[in-house]
Amino acid sequence: MAKATGLKKGLTQYGDTGFSLFLRKAFIKGAGYTDDALDRPIVGIADTGSGFNPCHGNAPQLVDAVRRGVMLAGGIPIPFPTISIHESFAHPTSMFLRNLMSMETEEMLRAQPMDAVVLIGGCDKTVPAQLMAAASAGIPAIQLVTGSMLTGAYRGTTVGACTDCRRYWARYRADEIGEAEISEVNDQLVGSVGTCCVMGTASTMACVTEALGMMLPGGASAPAVTADRARIAEQTGTQAVAMAAAGLTPQRILTTQAFENALRVLFAIGGSTNGLIHLTAIAGRMGLRVDLDRVDRMSAETPVLVDLKPSGEHYMEDFHRAGGLPTVLRELKSLLHLDALTVTGRTLGEELEAAGPAFDQTVVRPRARPIFAQGGLAVLRGNLAPGGALIKQSAASPALMTHEGRAVVFENSEDLAMRIDDPDLEVQADDVLVLKHIGPVGGPGMPEAGYIPIPRKLARQGVTDMVRISDGRMSGTAAGTIVLHVTPECALGGPLALVRTGDRIRLDVPNRTLDLLVDDAELAARAAARPQGAARHAERGYLKLYLDTVLQADEGCDFDFLQPPSFTRSIPDA
Ligand code: FES
Repeated sequence: MAKATGLKKGLTQYGDTGFSLFLRKAFIKGAGYTDDALDRPIVGIADTGSGFNPCHGNAPQLVDAVRRGVMLAGGIPIPFPTISIHESFAHPTSMFLRNLMSMETEEMLRAQPMDAVVLIGGCDKTVPAQLMAAASAGIPAIQLVTGSMLTGAYRGTTVGACTDCRRYWARYRADEIGEAEISEVNDQLVGSVGTCCVMGTASTMACVTEALGMMLPGGASAPAVTADRARIAEQTGTQAVAMAAAGLTPQRILTTQAFENALRVLFAIGGSTNGLIHLTAIAGRMGLRVDLDRVDRMSAETPVLVDLKPSGEHYMEDFHRAGGLPTVLRELKSLLHLDALTVTGRTLGEELEAAGPAFDQTVVRPRARPIFAQGGLAVLRGNLAPGGALIKQSAASPALMTHEGRAVVFENSEDLAMRIDDPDLEVQADDVLVLKHIGPVGGPGMPEAGYIPIPRKLARQGVTDMVRISDGRMSGTAAGTIVLHVTPECALGGPLALVRTGDRIRLDVPNRTLDLLVDDAELAARAAARPQGAARHAERGYLKLYLDTVLQADEGCDFDFLQPPSFTRSIPDA
């Protein structure tokens, strides 16, 4: 029997399929549709516009442009709302809600009759949630991002969220600038609607999605309020109709080769550490396991080429003028799987050929002259992180890459907030700041609190970086010598839970180690003295579902029941 398409897909069950279709048509005709319109391929548009999400403030314009593209190709566009998550408007953290958004989106893709879907995302967790959903739902899907915000200017200096947010806040904490100035700069950091304009998580995920083949070529970099962004939206709508006709599902695009291309790009752009968690989660939905040790080897042989904050100097609008991701892909060509299929039905290599020759620009470096010779991310292991930990070495201080220091421990975020600025806090510049209980379960939701502020009294002395360690995450826009994603996390009894103020810790990034210099017998005694039982518990609702099923950082923090029962392959390939 031919597969149902269009309005006939997934009929509501009334025990009479003819009546189900009759009723469905009657209701949608109430919105003024004709039979001619309703006989065409249906392209759903997942609209994540929300008053609480300024990063998606251009969603109405993008929906219009996508509609135009769909209709130009002979389809019928039907927008529908889904959950929208903004980093600063999500309590306790946006990561806590990512899986909820992915579940909701997946179920709406299944429940509603559509032959293809355009996913409009942008702010950090939205694109991963949508790709996880698309991978699981298995219908033709194409990603559109809202695009980056414009930069602003403060007293003649270009500024943009959110690397400069952190830079100015650090200056304010160090008393270098006062109330009036910090308030003035606050007006200028976000120049328009759109996503953060540095290589933070949103920009990282946009680039990685293009490299995966799930977005139109060149679709990652156009700023939110440009004509280019609207044109990409129109073309995305048109392409969605072609994908519906061809049955081009994520299953054909999200292959091991596609994920390896995406990992290459993640390293070469100096991408966010969050990018690795999200790629791991998306790959997990496809039955692919990201192997951290192989990731480290791949990162070591992939230079950072993109000169964007926080690893470099420029902003997303500069990256777009420099040709966007195709400029990076050209440089990486010999390291890529060029035969990987994309949403256009053509391969990455064919699209790269079509993008034309390179031109002079100063944002993407040639491989012979990288920003950073090794990939941006390094995977650390040792008795403090047997399951692995991550450091963004391209944004760290070279002088601290090998460092031994005394631990100054904060038990959780509340403890940190209470004591970090205490003038009596015993802390020196060469100490190692440790923050516990901000992991996937402990947070909950793995808050981006891994960017532990420099204690105010040291900031006032001019200290700008220290080694900082946690089981949490940090924003992709942040910089510093910051060890993240320590696995297993404290809340599950990981060794980080055993660290005490005064212990010695050794970080050795060149040798990829992170060790607590306390002997095994003492650690065993501390472990035995710890209270046993579940670390965190909830009686009901989404929090219960989250705490009972969330996986650790090295597994992408997905819910265990959303992944297939077993993995078929590891990536990258050995
Ligand atoms: Fe939305 Fe940065 S807060 S992308």
